[in-house]
Amino acid sequence: MRLIIEPDYALVSKWAANYVAAQINAANPTPEKPFVLGCPTGSSPLGLYRELIRLNKEGRVSFRNVVTFNMDEYCGIPRDHEQSYHTFMWTNFFNQIDILPENVNILNGNAPDPEAECRRYEEKILSYGGIDLFMGGVGPDGHIAFNEPGSSLTSRTRMKTLTKDTIIANSRFFENNVDLVPKTALTVGVGTVMAAKSVLLIVNGYNKARALKHGVEGGISQMWTISALQMHPKAIIVADEDACMELKVSTYRYFKDIESANLDPTSQL
Ligand code: GLP
Repeated sequence: MRLIIEPDYALVSKWAANYVAAQINAANPTPEKPFVLGCPTGSSPLGLYRELIRLNKEGRVSFRNVVTFNMDEYCGIPRDHEQSYHTFMWTNFFNQIDILPENVNILNGNAPDPEAECRRYEEKILSYGGIDLFMGGVGPDGHIAFNEPGSSLTSRTRMKTLTKDTIIANSRFFENNVDLVPKTALTVGVGTVMAAKSVLLIVNGYNKARALKHGVEGGISQMWTISALQMHPKAIIVADEDACMELKVSTYRYFKDIESANLDPTSQL
């Protein structure tokens, strides 16, 4: 695992966007062989999306031959609800880049047969040869996508019941009213994320410090699903200083030292 430590959120977003753009450019995608990108929602990736939009507008990366798969979607709210992940993605990213609408994949949280919907999603990912790069954030309890504590580390796309912690955390988007937050969601599994060729997580802010500590220093555990990334051959976490608050000084220095020798991804653009 690589842990990139940047001074603040703006630089975390820049680093991540430059990395994603460099990966897409290096793959030189075509309509026959598109680049397959896994996309998260939440506040953490907003800066990354803003930077990718800028790079796209400047002509430094194109999404014409990129196919996306979103991590998750709430159940029980309409697709065009202002807090659906569908609305989030089109508002904050897809409407502002040159992606083809038919290349966007988001789970249908209102599918009449959720199990069939989840199977279809996994099969569609496979039909593209898997995900090249899964981007993600992390919940304060260490969850990736909606893989709440206790989720199997080999899980695939399925319906999950949200924990009280997540419902409270996400109530800020629902008038601070926990009763308005959907109680279930469809989500890719930890196994789905782990099957991606590479994974890039954004972890920022003090409220993610415990999750980062468990993800980097803790043992691999279903109680902190972020920790599964320790088993991934190509996982990168980009964190700000605030999120590193709970790391041991030795851990912090180790990652700072090894990364000082690595190239800034900007230089690859
Ligand atoms: C939700 C999403 C996760 C996201 C998490 C953290 O639970 N399903 O994918 O990582 O929120 O969100 P934020 O980035 O807003 O802290």
